[in-house]
Amino acid sequence: TDIRIGPELIRRRKGGIPLVCLTAYTYPVARLLDPHVDLLLVGDSVAMVLHGHETTLGASLDMMIAHGQAVMRGSARACVVVDMPAGSYEVSAALAVASARRIVDETGCQAVKLEGGVDIAGQIAAIVAAGIPVMGHIGLLPQSVEKDGGYKIKGRTDETVAALMADARAVEKAGAFSVVIEGTIEAVAADITRRIAIPTIGIGASGDCDGQILVIDDMVGLTVDRVPKFVKEYADLRRVIAHAAERYAAEVRERTFPGPNHVFSGSKASSDSNDG
Ligand code: KIV
Ligand code: NA
Repeated sequence: TDIRIGPELIRRRKGGIPLVCLTAYTYPVARLLDPHVDLLLVGDSVAMVLHGHETTLGASLDMMIAHGQAVMRGSARACVVVDMPAGSYEVSAALAVASARRIVDETGCQAVKLEGGVDIAGQIAAIVAAGIPVMGHIGLLPQSVEKDGGYKIKGRTDETVAALMADARAVEKAGAFSVVIEGTIEAVAADITRRIAIPTIGIGASGDCDGQILVIDDMVGLTVDRVPKFVKEYADLRRVIAHAAERYAAEVRERTFPGPNHVFSGSKASSDSNDG
């Protein structure tokens, strides 16, 4: 039986218990997060977070598929959504469907996510019509950072509020099962949440959204560069890793590692198995 949370279950959580979402890019992290979340997003933020690119424009379809496969191997329960990278869907509905199909066929993920509203409604509708569930993404769009001249919070002016509402409605009408609202004035994100029938997932948006998402590395304090205001660090893995590396370096240099338990003595004792 399929116990995995699907897009339809996510959709039905509108207005209910908040949806818990995190990004994941690797097998071990997916294993650790899967029991605790409703949805795992293989975000194109992987290009920045794991690969050190300047922006998410460094993500490729092959990169997204490789990380999607890793996360699927590590998760059993959460709804797994894989981001469509920049360049894989904007120019036509046909390209969008072909790219989405590759992602789903090669990873086995539950859904794909695309950035944009009114401008890519045709792509969303075409992917949904092809039988692939779609998550929308409106507000601050990291794939448009170069075009926008930086990471700019949306919904500060009447004009952008109207554009955001139009984007939200377009994504809903195109058949998306939920929508991420990123980097948007709190009251505007809350208002969108009230006005559309699909769950909104906030990041730098509003506590009134139907769910929340954060980048896993930001959330556990592993991000070495500046973290945005909307991030809450629930752990300090930078310190944990630096401290472990420091102790390891000292012990190797003073020859206290490896110790007797970390070498094979050649006796037939069970401690000689390589199982730890
Ligand atoms: O790529 C990403 O991590 C995202 C989320 C933060 C929404 O798109
Ligand atoms: Na993304």
